Amino acid sequence: MSEGRLAGKVAIVTGGGSRGGELGTGEATAICLAREGARVVVADIAAENAERTVAAISEDGGEASAFIGDACQSHDSSSMIDAAVDRYGGLHVLMNNLGYRSQPKKRGRGVDGLVEEQFDAAVQLNLKTATLASKYAIPAMKESGGGSIINVSSVDGLAAGHSYGVPYGVTKGALHMLTISTAAYHGRDGIRANCIAPGHLHSSYTSAIDPKLRDRRRRVVPLGTEGTPWDVGWLAVFLGSDESRWISGVTIPVDGGLFAAQPLVAQHYMEADEIDSEEGTG
Ligand SMILES: NC(=O)c1ccc[n+]([C@@H]2O[C@H](COP(=O)([O-])OP(=O)(O)OC[C@H]3O[C@@H](n4cnc5c(N)ncnc54)[C@H](O)[C@@H]3O)[C@@H](O)[C@H]2O)c1
Repeated sequence: MSEGRLAGKVAIVTGGGSRGGELGTGEATAICLAREGARVVVADIAAENAERTVAAISEDGGEASAFIGDACQSHDSSSMIDAAVDRYGGLHVLMNNLGYRSQPKKRGRGVDGLVEEQFDAAVQLNLKTATLASKYAIPAMKESGGGSIINVSSVDGLAAGHSYGVPYGVTKGALHMLTISTAAYHGRDGIRANCIAPGHLHSSYTSAIDPKLRDRRRRVVPLGTEGTPWDVGWLAVFLGSDESRWISGVTIPVDGGLFAAQPLVAQHYMEADEIDSEEGTG
C-alpha cells in the first residue's frame, strides 16, 4: 500500500498531459496527486502529452497510466472512468481540468461580439467534458464508497475577464453551478464536489500571452507575485483527500488575493509600481 495523504485512492485528471514546454495545471495536479500516494489516470486527447506526464510521475516514484480519448465524446468519457476502475479497482478523485482557449484574433470582447462557433466550442470543452465525466464517475465513486470531484473554472467565471471573452467566462461560471448541483444531489452518496478558480497563473495555458500583459496580470494581484500550476495542484490534493471531508459545494479562488481588492486598490498597486520603477527602485 502506498503512503501519503491520498494513499489507497484512485484519481483521474482530464487534460493531465504535458505539452512539453511550460507546466500545465493538469500536469502539475497529476504529479501532486501521485506524490501523495494516489494511483493516477492521466487522461488526454494527445498520447505523447499523456505519456510525458506518466513518465514524470514514474520518475518521481509514483504510479500512473495514460488514457487516450476525446473528453467531449460521451463514449470516450465513459471509457475513461471504466479504465480507472478496471486498472486500479475503483475511483475516488476526478479532476475536471480541461479549458477552452479561443484564438486571439477571433476574440470578441462583449456579448454583441460573441462568435457563435467559439461559444459552442467553449460549451463543449469547459462544460460538457466536466458534466459527462461527472455523470460517469458518480456511479463508480458510489461503488468505491464515495469520492471527490474537483472542477477547474477560472476567476473569469467569477467576474468578467480581460483576455478570453464571453464564451470562456460564461461557461466557466456554469461550472460553479455544476459543482453546486453535484454537491447537492450526491452528498448522500458520499460524493463531494468543489471547484478551483485559478487566477493569474503562468502555465502552459497562458504561455503565449504578451509579456506586458503577463507583467500586468502579476501587478494587479495583492501579493504581487505570479501563480503557478503547483498552487492549483496542492489545493487539489487537499480537496481530493479526507482532510477536506466536510467541504463540499464551494468554489475556491487560487488568485493571490485578486478578489480581495477593489479595482481602485489594484490601480494603486499599478501606479505605485510605475512610480517605483521611475525612481529606479522597482
Ligand atoms: N493559466 C491560467 O492563468 C488559468 C487561469 C484560469 C483558469 N485556468 C484553467 O486551468 C486549466 C488549464 O489547464 P492546463 O494548464 O492543464 O492546460 P493545457 O492547455 O496545458 O492542456 C492540457 C491538456 O489538455 C489536452 N486536451 C485538449 N483537448 C482535449 C480533449 N478534448 N480531450 C482530452 N484532452 C484534451 C491537451 O492535449 C493538453 O495536453 C483550464 O481549465 C483553464 O481554463 C488557467
